[in-house]
Amino acid sequence: MGSNAPVGVFDSGIGGLSVLHEIRRALPGESLLYVADSGHVPYGEKSPEYIRERCVLITEHLLAQGAKALVLACNTATAAAGAELRERYPNLPIVGMEPAVKPAAAATRSGVVGVLATTGTLKSAKFAALLDRFASDVRVITQPCPGLVERIEAGDLDGEGTRALLQGYVAPLLDEGCDTLILGCTHYPFIKPLLLTLVPESVSLIDTGAAVAKQLQRILNSHCLLAEGASRPAEFWSSGDPEQMRQVLPRLWGETAAVRVL
Ligand code: DGL
Repeated sequence: MGSNAPVGVFDSGIGGLSVLHEIRRALPGESLLYVADSGHVPYGEKSPEYIRERCVLITEHLLAQGAKALVLACNTATAAAGAELRERYPNLPIVGMEPAVKPAAAATRSGVVGVLATTGTLKSAKFAALLDRFASDVRVITQPCPGLVERIEAGDLDGEGTRALLQGYVAPLLDEGCDTLILGCTHYPFIKPLLLTLVPESVSLIDTGAAVAKQLQRILNSHCLLAEGASRPAEFWSSGDPEQMRQVLPRLWGETAAVRVL
């Protein structure tokens, strides 16, 4: 596989575009392929078996397009399918993601950290192991956010319904004294402006998009797969309504682009 081959990135929907942004910022020379599994969103309420099947199918598609590496731009998919994908594709560099518990535990001053994530991520063995490893000295309060991903998929980033839903999820965390909130789902960075209106200035919001881009850089470098020269425009697929994704791309990706059906 040549170093100028593209990097394949996917999520249950458009949330992973928040990660794609960070990859483009850190690695402007890389050509990018993106799959939104919007016909099967939300992953957060699906079984691990179902998510694993979807992840294999999408990985096969990205490999057929010539991907040299894979980024699971989805915390829920990483928790459910990351290990299986690594086992199935031992020669494929794979970068997954997980809620930023370690940096949050280091950053909190109140000693109370809140995690906003999907039900699937918070229920996973991978997340339990993450807490065991990095959160023994802090109190971590988890908050599943059913319904939020669907609102973001629908393009409602700051409407009254989204605000009320988010307020209901965040208020109990603030009441418990959280001063650090982990955005443990790649959809949530898109509602960061709304979230900032709901929390005091003293509360820090932490997400992992930039760390994932750095990790991708490290892993490509170690496989001698960093691209040389100019990148091609990103290519997009959706298993949902491609027209709906095409319409949100200018707002969430910053460019217009064609979206193909997966
Ligand atoms: N964006 C995904 C994540 O990071 C999950 C959203 C969903 O529930 O589909 O966890």
